[in-house]
Amino acid sequence: MQTVKPEVSLDDHAFILRAKREWEQTFDAVSDLIMITDTDHTIIRVNRAMAERCGLTPKDMVGHKCFEMMHGAGVAPDYCPHAGMLVSKKPQQAEFNIEKLHGIFEVTMSPILNEEGRVTAGVHVCRDITEHRRHEELLTAQQKLLEEINRSLEDRIATAVDELRKSDDLLIQQGRLSAMGDLINSIAHHWRQPLNNIGLIVQSLGLAFKANDLSVAEMDAEIFAIMDILQQISDTINDFRTFFVHEKEPVSFSVNDAVSRAVNFILPSLKSKGVKVICHEHADICAFGFPNEYAQVLLNIIINAKEALLQSNETTPLITVRVSEENGRSLVTISDNGGGIAADVLPKIFDPYFTTRVNGNGIGLYMSKMIIEKNMHGRLTACNVDGCAELRVEV
Ligand SMILES: Nc1ncnc2c1ncn2[C@@H]1O[C@H](COP(=O)(O)OP(=O)(O)O)[C@@H](O)[C@H]1O
Ligand SMILES: [Mg+2]
Repeated sequence: MQTVKPEVSLDDHAFILRAKREWEQTFDAVSDLIMITDTDHTIIRVNRAMAERCGLTPKDMVGHKCFEMMHGAGVAPDYCPHAGMLVSKKPQQAEFNIEKLHGIFEVTMSPILNEEGRVTAGVHVCRDITEHRRHEELLTAQQKLLEEINRSLEDRIATAVDELRKSDDLLIQQGRLSAMGDLINSIAHHWRQPLNNIGLIVQSLGLAFKANDLSVAEMDAEIFAIMDILQQISDTINDFRTFFVHEKEPVSFSVNDAVSRAVNFILPSLKSKGVKVICHEHADICAFGFPNEYAQVLLNIIINAKEALLQSNETTPLITVRVSEENGRSLVTISDNGGGIAADVLPKIFDPYFTTRVNGNGIGLYMSKMIIEKNMHGRLTACNVDGCAELRVEV
């Protein structure tokens, strides 16, 4: 039978031309880089995006081997999915660096099959994922850094706590030095009177001896008096020494004794400034902890009260110390009529280095709070009661 070749009408021709144009326009409009190669890697067609990215025109590229154009190589690289596509006849995907395009690309290679099902060409669609990968790498690096930070966080916290503790220790040392200064001052006050007395006795002894008016009995009595005074001086030294003995183990101690020690240490210096002290004692109250450190806290508070009184114009300066018990705990309150603690100052008085005094160092109350609350698990607080500053020590 004779086959009749169908004729293509002019209308059909125009239609086909239009379809071709439309297809080419679509091909060029796609922003992904597209290249079609034959089975031998020869470029048949490239879209505008691909040519522009290569800095060439489609004409410059057609007819050349794709590995030449893309990788500047003489043969297809190992990772090229082309061979896999020929065998499987299915789309293949790979991700690699395309040197000539200066970036990392996700390349999908899809086969074009003829009517017999043989691969005649491959469509390469290259998607630029350089930025995407860069972000991923950045993210991974940041994640690693975060993990590293997390891992080292515990160590760093431990180091920071350790350093803080060291600086706290240093503060305690500074506080002790400053308290020691106060105590030396106090020793001077303690000794002034007995030394004066010894001086007077020695002077009168000399006079009586020169006037030939000194019996052996009188001489013995005066020597005895001097020895007595010297003993008092020696006792004071011992008291002061034990005050600074570092205590390693907590013990049960009499709160009254600690109060008496602190008050007695500072009493001569208070008297010399005209400051009166009233103590309401309570003999049987005990606390558990470090009695020397505790007495040092009381001393700090009393010295602060003294300073506040000296700064005020109070004509009858008075410090009141009360020992009592509250909720099964020992309580010592120390108040003074120096005008109280100003409202804006009150929240800060336990901060390290906070001071309103010209010669203050702001360590005393911070250190005292640490001793009472950290070392002895008690509470040290401050408030104003009827315009008087009141410090409460609960242990
Ligand atoms: N009894 C008080 N009356 C008024 N203010 C006080 C009293 N005790 C403490 N303060 C305030 O608390 C501050 C901090 O005291 P402290 O830590 O002992 O340091 P410093 O005595 O060196 O100033 C003082 O400067 C003062 O402003
Ligand atoms: Mg102080």
